[in-house]
Amino acid sequence: MTPALNQSVDRLIRGRRATRAFLPDEVPADTMRTVFELAGHAPSNSNTQPWCVEVVSGAARDRLADALVAAHAAGYQSVDFPYQEGLFRGVLATRRAQFGAQLYAALGIARHDTDLLDGYNTESLRFYGAPHVAMLFAPAETEARIAADMGMYTQTLLLAMEAHGIASCPQALLSFYADTVRAELGVIDRKLLLGIAFGYADESARVNTLRVSRAGLAETTRFRR
Ligand SMILES: Cc1cc2nc3c(=O)[nH]c(=O)nc-3n(C[C@H](O)[C@H](O)[C@H](O)COP(=O)(O)O)c2cc1C
Repeated sequence: MTPALNQSVDRLIRGRRATRAFLPDEVPADTMRTVFELAGHAPSNSNTQPWCVEVVSGAARDRLADALVAAHAAGYQSVDFPYQEGLFRGVLATRRAQFGAQLYAALGIARHDTDLLDGYNTESLRFYGAPHVAMLFAPAETEARIAADMGMYTQTLLLAMEAHGIASCPQALLSFYADTVRAELGVIDRKLLLGIAFGYADESARVNTLRVSRAGLAETTRFRR
């Protein structure tokens, strides 16, 4: 690897972050095709490439956002990958709480302010104003091994976007409305793992100043011989 390449990769990986306020400007169609084609080069178990992606823009994006907000208002949630309380334990619970505190501080929302929190949740279901959302579907029989391939695809896509100046936010929240998303997009027999809002960052938004740190190398990785 040349020094130029490793410096670029370093910048790319460190530079990507979750964006939670977008400008309305659309990403040109040819740039979208470039990044989604690039993402398809992600590795997968036996090269099975289990991802199935619906990229939603324009009027279809607006209809999807309206349907999600209506499902939320009606209290209708539907998940393909059940979320259990207690999923995050020990140090994971600690990191999650730290992240939550940082996010709410960046949003200027106190945890007990239900009106502001509800407004933020609605904004999330409108993809933080992003003009596009990619819905990542997996095969109906998906369990953890296939989910690992989906993760490979997701990070490859996020980095491809970053390299092309496109900001993104992976949104597990959207997977809590799987039936709604399937109905709107006419998808049958696939499970919804994740949505990814993308477009151009609104650099003036306070929430986009959030920078979250990572655990030190020694906390996660042991080198043995
Ligand atoms: C699988 C996955 C699901 C996520 N779901 C959400 C979400 O629903 N809402 C949100 O605002 N951010 C979501 N995020 C973004 C994370 O909060 C973010 O990646 C993490 O805090 C690290 O910050 P960074 O991406 O800015 O480095 C998700 C990220 C991943 C990888």
